Amino acid sequence: MSPNPVVEIATRGLQKNFGALRVLDGVDFTVTQHQVQALIGPSGSGKSTFLRCLNLLEYPDGGELLWKGRTVPYKNMRAAELSRHRRKMGMVFQHFHLFPHRTVLQNVIEGPVQVLGTPIRQAREQGRELLRQVGLEDKTDAWPAQLSGGQKQRAAIARSLAMDPEVLLLDEVTSALDVEMISGINELLTGLAADGMTMVVVTHDLGFARQVADRIGFFDEGRIVESGPPEQLLDRPKSSRLAEFLQAFQNTTTP
Ligand SMILES: Nc1ncnc2c1ncn2[C@@H]1O[C@H](COP(=O)(O)OP(=O)(O)OP(=O)(O)O)[C@@H](O)[C@H]1O
Ligand SMILES: [Mg+2]
Repeated sequence: MSPNPVVEIATRGLQKNFGALRVLDGVDFTVTQHQVQALIGPSGSGKSTFLRCLNLLEYPDGGELLWKGRTVPYKNMRAAELSRHRRKMGMVFQHFHLFPHRTVLQNVIEGPVQVLGTPIRQAREQGRELLRQVGLEDKTDAWPAQLSGGQKQRAAIARSLAMDPEVLLLDEVTSALDVEMISGINELLTGLAADGMTMVVVTHDLGFARQVADRIGFFDEGRIVESGPPEQLLDRPKSSRLAEFLQAFQNTTTP
């Protein structure tokens, strides 16, 4: 890695409230180009809300959001600026969010054609190539309902990649899948990481976080309370909250 890697996204003291509930309580975060950051932490600690704030599916209530070192004026953005910001980041969710009445290929080319203005023949060609990359070349004309969970998630990942994002935000993308589907998706993401895709990966799969992430951040009560390289964070936790979280995790996964 170069000595001064480009910072893609950073937040400083990011806050988000839902009514009286403070869900993000001052999140400091940085992801640099080609880096994979995993976010772990207890249920309800704010991980999904944080990802949604990064691409402004939710508006933060305070703190700073930066894109490549420039402050994003999230309180005062026009629709065109907002969609430009969102296009830089592809988001993939636990439950796929495919359009049910469109084929796999139509799902993949929808964004490029409608949003980027890519000519339909070119979008189809690129879409087929992406579907080949994610291992779905034989499902191009299938309907989402005809796919397994793992195949739906592959299609959703291809749809995000079709927009040529600079960063991928992934929220628990394997937690709705059967065990045998999980390793295939994890392999796909590991391949994307090896190709240099910058990723922020929210996961409960600590083994995968260890394998794929350059750094892991531990979320607790709306903050990243500890972060570091996987071995440090998972094997030598500094905070008692993280140690407890890892202990509880071990108790549920070790027979
Ligand atoms: N739209 C909303 N309106 C009100 N409260 C919300 C909303 N979205 C999330 N919350 C609350 O914000 C808190 C953080 O939720 P969030 O989904 O970010 O947690 P999480 O860390 O992703 O949890 P999990 O691991 O279970 O997915 C929770 O208390 C949740 O109930
Ligand atoms: Mg979540």
